[in-house]
Amino acid sequence: MTADPTPGPGPGEVHVWRVPLDPPEPALAVYEPTLSADERARADRFRTGVLRRRFVAGRGALRAILATYLGVAPGRVAFAYGDHGKPRLDGDGLGSRLEFNLAHSHDLALCAVARGRAVGVDVEKLRPVTEAVRIVGRYFTPGEQAEFLSHPEPDRVAAFFRGWTRKEAFLKVTGLGLSAGLDSFEVTLGAGGAALLRVGDDPAAAGRWTLRDVDAGPGFAAAVAVEGELARVTVRDREPENRSGKV
Ligand SMILES: CC(C)(COP(=O)(O)OP(=O)(O)OC[C@H]1O[C@@H](n2cnc3c(N)ncnc32)[C@H](O)[C@@H]1OP(=O)(O)O)[C@@H](O)C(=O)NCCC(=O)NCCS
Repeated sequence: MTADPTPGPGPGEVHVWRVPLDPPEPALAVYEPTLSADERARADRFRTGVLRRRFVAGRGALRAILATYLGVAPGRVAFAYGDHGKPRLDGDGLGSRLEFNLAHSHDLALCAVARGRAVGVDVEKLRPVTEAVRIVGRYFTPGEQAEFLSHPEPDRVAAFFRGWTRKEAFLKVTGLGLSAGLDSFEVTLGAGGAALLRVGDDPAAAGRWTLRDVDAGPGFAAAVAVEGELARVTVRDREPENRSGKV
């Protein structure tokens, strides 16, 4: 039996779900049978039990979240994949036009959901990065490098992960991943808010997307990117008691 679908994101809105990836065993036992055969095969290829369980928790929660919007059982949610591996709902997603993206870091995943336009999300656990200056020098644009180096040492971990998650969210909204080229676009790194400053050589291109920071909770940096304007990011928790997998 399925309940009425949960209202999806309205125009100009993105829903971001925070999903703990180390849920109690009973939640995993509900999630696992909802996975497709290829997802279960992927789960079995992880080298450690922790990584396997986190993959099952992420994909299981993703299915459960999308199922509540679609009004179907989680096992009925069907995915297709872009040329660079970005998952999407198969066909037109039962007419929903829902778009989503998933990201995980350590014990947390974020699932971003938009309607009728592409969305990308990234999350990173804040941690010391011993080679931050080298990584920034190699992967960030000259403008991003200058902004990073303008931060005093104690602020650099936060600036690094703000920049990283903002860049990654943009890579993921396009679906191109690293094939897009990390120097082909530029973001802000400051605490004053995320912005896409440049995309390629077209001065109008950056205005076709919106980049926002997401409150993923203490100890994490996160960002979301969408096609077009973004009025509101609504962050929700996927609570353990809701993880029955039933809709
Ligand atoms: C998949 C990719 C886009 C992100 O990988 P990642 O950072 O390791 O992992 P994340 O947790 O952010 O995202 C993984 C999820 O993104 C989704 N995904 C996979 N390919 C994707 C693509 N091409 N575009 C958007 N999303 C994609 C999947 O749902 C995947 O999770 P799942 O396999 O459990 O379903 C990767 O191909 C990539 O390009 N990584 C860039 C890493 C990097 O160097 N970033 C530098 C930023 S400065």
